[in-house]
Amino acid sequence: MPGHVGYSVVPWKQRNGRATAALSLLLTVAAKEGLDRLVTLCNEDNDASRRVIEHNGGELFMRGPHPSDRPDQIKLYFWLTPGTAG
Ligand SMILES: CC(C)(COP(=O)(O)OP(=O)(O)OC[C@H]1O[C@@H](n2cnc3c(N)ncnc32)[C@H](O)[C@@H]1OP(=O)(O)O)[C@@H](O)C(=O)NCCC(=O)NCCS
Repeated sequence: MPGHVGYSVVPWKQRNGRATAALSLLLTVAAKEGLDRLVTLCNEDNDASRRVIEHNGGELFMRGPHPSDRPDQIKLYFWLTPGTAG
């Protein structure tokens, strides 16, 4: 079943672990729903989002454009495994 993972934290609350915690909570929900893996994307130059994904065990498996964005916007594609994040 396709879906979409998105997160945004207001600038004055950033860099305090909120997005990392939110993605971790989402993975807990996904595990309870029986999903065994998710794909998540971020722009190649979005260091904050990349760190959020990596803190939740994201494994980079592909780099390239996505039909939802400009062809020259390179995305990083990660596997996330619900229930395994610390
Ligand atoms: C991406 C975003 C949600 C991160 O939210 P956050 O609550 O600040 O994230 P966290 O506090 O959990 O930080 C996660 C990591 O990103 C790093 N980080 C946060 N903001 C950063 C920035 N502007 N530049 C570089 N690294 C940053 C943190 O230092 C942390 O890494 P570390 O633990 O290795 O030091 C937030 O920057 C945002 O809303 N950005 C605009 C929307 C967006 O890009 N959404 C994601 C689309 S894929």
